[in-house]
Amino acid sequence: MTAKRRILVTSALPYANGPLHLGHMVETIQTDIWVRFQKLRGHECMYVCADDTHGTPIMLRAQSEGITPEELITRVGLEHKADLDAFNIGFDNYHSTHSEENRELTYRTYEALERGGHIERRMVRQAYDEKAQMFLPDRFVKGTCPRCNAANQYGDSCESCGATYSTSELINPISAVSGTTPVERESEHLFFKLADFETMLREWTRSGTLQQAVANKLEEWFSAGLKDWDISRDAPYFGFEIPDAPGKYFYVWLDAPVGYMASFLNLCRNNGWGFESWWKPGSPTELYHFIGKDILYFHALFWPAVLQGAGFRTPDGVFVHGFLTINGEKMSKSRGTFITASSWREHLPTEPLRYFFASRLGSGLDDLDLGLDDFVNKVNSDIVGKLVNIASRCSGFLARSFDNRLAIKLPEPDLYEEFLHKLPMIAEAYESRDYAAAIREIMALADRANLYIDQQKPWLLAKNPERATEVHGVCTQAINLFRVLVMLLKPVLPALTTKAEEFLGGHELSWEDVQRPLLGSKVNAYEALATRIDASAITALISANQAATSPQPTQPKAATHSSPVTGEASIDDFAKLDLRIAKILNAEFVEGADKLLKLTVDVGSEFGTRTIFAGIRSAYAPEDLIGRMTLVFANLKPRKMRFGVSEGMVLAAGSDSPNGESEKQIFILSPDSGAMPGMKVK
Ligand code: MSP
Ligand code: ZN
Repeated sequence: MTAKRRILVTSALPYANGPLHLGHMVETIQTDIWVRFQKLRGHECMYVCADDTHGTPIMLRAQSEGITPEELITRVGLEHKADLDAFNIGFDNYHSTHSEENRELTYRTYEALERGGHIERRMVRQAYDEKAQMFLPDRFVKGTCPRCNAANQYGDSCESCGATYSTSELINPISAVSGTTPVERESEHLFFKLADFETMLREWTRSGTLQQAVANKLEEWFSAGLKDWDISRDAPYFGFEIPDAPGKYFYVWLDAPVGYMASFLNLCRNNGWGFESWWKPGSPTELYHFIGKDILYFHALFWPAVLQGAGFRTPDGVFVHGFLTINGEKMSKSRGTFITASSWREHLPTEPLRYFFASRLGSGLDDLDLGLDDFVNKVNSDIVGKLVNIASRCSGFLARSFDNRLAIKLPEPDLYEEFLHKLPMIAEAYESRDYAAAIREIMALADRANLYIDQQKPWLLAKNPERATEVHGVCTQAINLFRVLVMLLKPVLPALTTKAEEFLGGHELSWEDVQRPLLGSKVNAYEALATRIDASAITALISANQAATSPQPTQPKAATHSSPVTGEASIDDFAKLDLRIAKILNAEFVEGADKLLKLTVDVGSEFGTRTIFAGIRSAYAPEDLIGRMTLVFANLKPRKMRFGVSEGMVLAAGSDSPNGESEKQIFILSPDSGAMPGMKVK
């Protein structure tokens, strides 16, 4: 047995402005498996997390719901926790960044940085929304790219040509908060001097604990030069006010990682444990952060530098994973694959998803795909067909003929040894987060166990009373192989393991336990450990997500889209749609709706002139549309909206952004020249 390690582990703190989705679950499941593995090996391992509650999007979200930010984050915090519990994420503590512990540690951190001379104040010019009376974060200003002229780009970078620029360079900037044109205003900001830590960061990068791709990325950032980091925001802002700068608040990304420490501090205080020894420089404890690749800069540059500057220890590793795709594509509301954690658990059990993610997770930054057909096949074949099958095939003989008691010796100790020989390699795979490799090895062993039963044929032996001892031996052997497999899968399948432990006699399995087989003792009555997943549950999940998030008639989404999961549409389905060529006679802004344009369209003599509200304002100015020809879904049931009745839908193509905050790119469809209003699309 190796020496006992003391390990603190985190996953990124989810934003408290929306529900958790399956992308978040990739991360928490990956982390939870690692933590459960460490605990299984007998190490002291703590897993802490929290909701990330501060910042402009949360403040605006609360405003739009007519509630206080505190009310919003309390509600969302409870929703998050319920989802995480349902997926069996075994946190030692789940806290909030809007907490006293976090305020205390954020102030302590800031004051230490300031004492160390790492904070600098200087004036900045920033976009200001005079109507909403607030400074605008870059993401809340949109306009035309100054480099390539692509419309509807964010205030800091262009998704079309990749350029980065300052908001003041944007052509025709518009505030996403009020829809008005922002002005520039000066304000004093506080900066963290990141470059002070270049030497330390370079050393940390070379310490060998970072993934190669991550170390490479850091090298790129070093060559580009480390820039000062703006850590303050002006009121109104939901966060912690800066002690010596009234009216200014810490930028959410300063206090968010401190939230890792704050969650741990809260845990320590609740249990009377010491906190400081974990965080002092040179601490023998280990610290690891699991994150997605989108937030690497914050965790691999700012965070270690801030920790060092404030007199704390630095992380031993930042473990970066890739992004989740579903059926090979980015999660999409229109395809019904923007799947929230709560809708998943309404339709399907959670443990098979843990298993599936594990079977696809490597130690690198590659994206991983949840193919929904693959999912059903994989979990039915592996968990039900291979793993559970071993116990269900043999438990009946034990119950009927041997009073549920195991034999006193294994008929094939060598086979058991063969299983034990694989343990170090599987441990190494878990330790290095190559769960896909661990699962492959474990399933190869499950195949081996099933082959053993197939060859011994206990069901034939059982027909001959003289061979009862052999039957007993075969079943004892098989149940012991099953016990090793369950132990190996315990980090991935905690709920199934609990049931299997109960069956095996009620003892909690540890890595050490399986060194000796279970002999001569009684097992408990066998109850089904897992059931097959029916593909219809997936279909229901997808259509529920399509319905829940289905675009309003004003949203430019192609009406005829069919997904591989929901099935094909017939030509009759298509015939139900009346798609017509239309001419846009007028287009205007809608007061109070920052996504909509009100269009007046001519749909030909049969339909006449119609009013349509279309969610295309972020991509088109009214004057660009007037006089244009386009396509309209004309027999769509009229829809009463807050601003009036929408009588149809303009067809447009677009990409979805996963958080639904913005329509990334929108292209309304138009016919070739010569088409006339009222012509039917067939
Ligand atoms: N609040 C910040 C993190 C602060 S940590 C001090 C944040 N929140 S988040 O809710 O947007 O993301 C939380 C984590 O989920 C991040 O690590 C992010 O990479 C991960 N994921 C979000 N969408 C994802 C996928 N589609 N796939 C995999 N992981 C994804 O960032
Ligand atoms: Zn551009």
